Amino acid sequence: MLKNFLIVVIMFCVAQVHAQTQEAKSDSYRMRSFIDALMKKMTLEEKLGQLNLPGAGDITTGQAGSSDIAKKIKDGKVGGLFNIKGVEKIRDVQKVAVEQSRLKIPLIFGMDVIHGYQTTFPIPLGLSCTWDMQAVERSARIAANEASADGICWTFSPMVDIARDPRWGRIAEGSGEDAYLGSQIAKAMVKGYQGNDLKKNNTIMACVKHFALYGAAEGGRDYNTTDMSRVRMYNEYFPPYKAAVDAGAGSVMTSFNEIEGIPASANKWLMTAVLRKQWGFNGFVVTDYTAVNEMIDHGIGDLQTVSALSLKAGVDMDMVGEGFLTTLTKSLKEGKVTQQQIDLACRRILEAKYKLGLFDDPYRYTDIKRSQTEIFTGANRKVAREIAAQSFVLLKNQNNVLPLKRSGTIALIGPLADNKENMPGTWSVATDFSKAISLFTGMKEVAGNNVKILMARGSNLDEDSLFEDRAGMFGKSLRRDSRPANEIMQEAISIANQSDVIVAALGESAEMSGESSSRSNIEIPQAQKNLLQALLKTGKPLVLVLFTGRPLALKWEQEYVPVILNVWFGGTEAGTAIADVLFGDMNPSGKLTTTFPQNIGQVPIFYNHKNTGRPLPEGKWFQKFRSNYLDVSNDPLYPFGYGLSYTTFNYSDIKVSNKSLKGNQTLNASVTVTNTGSRSGKEVVQLYVRDVVGSITRPLKELKGFFKIDLKPGETKTVTFNITPEDLKFYNYDLKYDWEPGEFQIMIGTNSRDVKSVTINWVK
Ligand code: BGC
Repeated sequence: MLKNFLIVVIMFCVAQVHAQTQEAKSDSYRMRSFIDALMKKMTLEEKLGQLNLPGAGDITTGQAGSSDIAKKIKDGKVGGLFNIKGVEKIRDVQKVAVEQSRLKIPLIFGMDVIHGYQTTFPIPLGLSCTWDMQAVERSARIAANEASADGICWTFSPMVDIARDPRWGRIAEGSGEDAYLGSQIAKAMVKGYQGNDLKKNNTIMACVKHFALYGAAEGGRDYNTTDMSRVRMYNEYFPPYKAAVDAGAGSVMTSFNEIEGIPASANKWLMTAVLRKQWGFNGFVVTDYTAVNEMIDHGIGDLQTVSALSLKAGVDMDMVGEGFLTTLTKSLKEGKVTQQQIDLACRRILEAKYKLGLFDDPYRYTDIKRSQTEIFTGANRKVAREIAAQSFVLLKNQNNVLPLKRSGTIALIGPLADNKENMPGTWSVATDFSKAISLFTGMKEVAGNNVKILMARGSNLDEDSLFEDRAGMFGKSLRRDSRPANEIMQEAISIANQSDVIVAALGESAEMSGESSSRSNIEIPQAQKNLLQALLKTGKPLVLVLFTGRPLALKWEQEYVPVILNVWFGGTEAGTAIADVLFGDMNPSGKLTTTFPQNIGQVPIFYNHKNTGRPLPEGKWFQKFRSNYLDVSNDPLYPFGYGLSYTTFNYSDIKVSNKSLKGNQTLNASVTVTNTGSRSGKEVVQLYVRDVVGSITRPLKELKGFFKIDLKPGETKTVTFNITPEDLKFYNYDLKYDWEPGEFQIMIGTNSRDVKSVTINWVK
């Protein structure tokens, strides 16, 4: 009976899959015939127009038809526009394209929807510290829903550049230093944006960026050269891009940097051999902003040359620079590019529009009613608040000063104590800053009536006002206080003296990280450090609420400040989310996804490094003729994966199913984790593996899995990782992806440093 039932179920599933495959096939057939027919009607100029993504400037609602860009659209010289905000504007511009251009081809509308739309989530580096893939996907889903309700159908996200250098400001925009975690996040984001059906009016196309290696800019200086071995590219930097492509990302953005001497936007090996041939990517490639033109400064030719190189490398769309639009006709005449190359690029862009359903209904994403009811809703903000609280990382909590009591007087001090604009963080194009919640507002809301909160600025962001201008762009000023520094500080000390506890809201402003915001000094700016020192002298318990878009060097703070809660930039709901954690309504569970160095000289420092031929013996911090520094130990200040909770967790030793394995067997490695404190809490249980001997040198450990578990006080859970040879694979010297037999160290723990370990043997 059961057998028959199962057979029926299986047959039903097979039939379903078959029907779906047929449907997909016929859909791609329909798409091909539709685009074939359309392209037959297109002139060369119109084809080049599709490859053009100009800067729109600001188009005022109602003025779309007379804007500068309108003429180009009518002439069929525009494929899409980006970073225009407002459903009515977008509808008006689309109208010009579909009513006034000869072939009525709809435009694609993109935006940097990086960490939420109007409901803004933590900056991606913060979001990654949740280690919660459902939360990541959910944030992208909400972002897609809001963006698509406001006219956007394409986002320049996820940004998946592996970054190991905190000097680089764009470390804020990615998911940290690890390829495995980065890949999981890349997948979750693509799924969140695109859903299962790109044609739906609430899903948007993802654009994985910046392909490739942008995070490895020399010296952490933005746009700088990168250079590394292919073995490193394939094993340590490529996986998240590939994961996003495997998850079906519809488009890819080139990076600004060069790779092996050829800028990414002209790098055929990267854009065609790797991306399309090896990974099977079938979407379209857009350059980054003016990246084609920038190749003139890179020194590989004039605009005509670099535009032709870019198209030939496999790039389809040219962002802002118009090199494709203005030079490819000449290059075609001169035989420097072929008609097929132009046709292929044009086809890929039309395919994207087709997949988004724009040919069926160009106004699919411009439903004015949706824009009025689905953006910045209470429900979305509630999720953003919860996710933000999960992204904070408790770095130190001496004497359990946190959580704060809901009584007495709190002195809230610092340039970030009552600022809305800086809460969302970098790349918050669609955020309405006036609606973001400052820490002061959040604390007042969450604290209840028995707490008195006094507030003072204490210091400016930095002593140097010009620096502060540079760090307060895009309407994110901290409104510098013009009084003498001492006067500002004395006011703060006086309220500190009247209080039971100090909450110091210090660190970076939002625009101290992000694009073109590299720093050579990654400490808290001196003016704020002076304030911190003065506040500590009051002898009151002090909680440092640290705002930052990058790992900072906090050696002094770790030594002298009793409590440090790293809150990144938490999004529009940051203020309430921080207050939820400060008062203990939420127990912090974030874990770092980048190593925090002791000082800038240790950079780059990351957990999955190699052993070298002269490793430092364990327990030592210096030994002559070993790989180390004279003046600082090799240890990070806080390791990758680190983060505390208001409760404590105990790990058992690892139990493995087998110590010698063969071939495709599965190894079960488990630990039991117990909540030994008095509060419920979440813990990220992390699995690391070391391949002890390899044909090429292997990292000391690599993250291979993790679980985020929830434990009540006293509760114990067993966490089991199922490890297969697939988890042991890497790219060898010949770039072959395989595993090698031998000894493996299996490590499980609460962060990358504090692990239990067992060694097993695995033969082929
Ligand atoms: C950035 C990209 C971004 C693009 C469009 C560039 O400057 O590098 O990440 O998507 O601008 O705004």
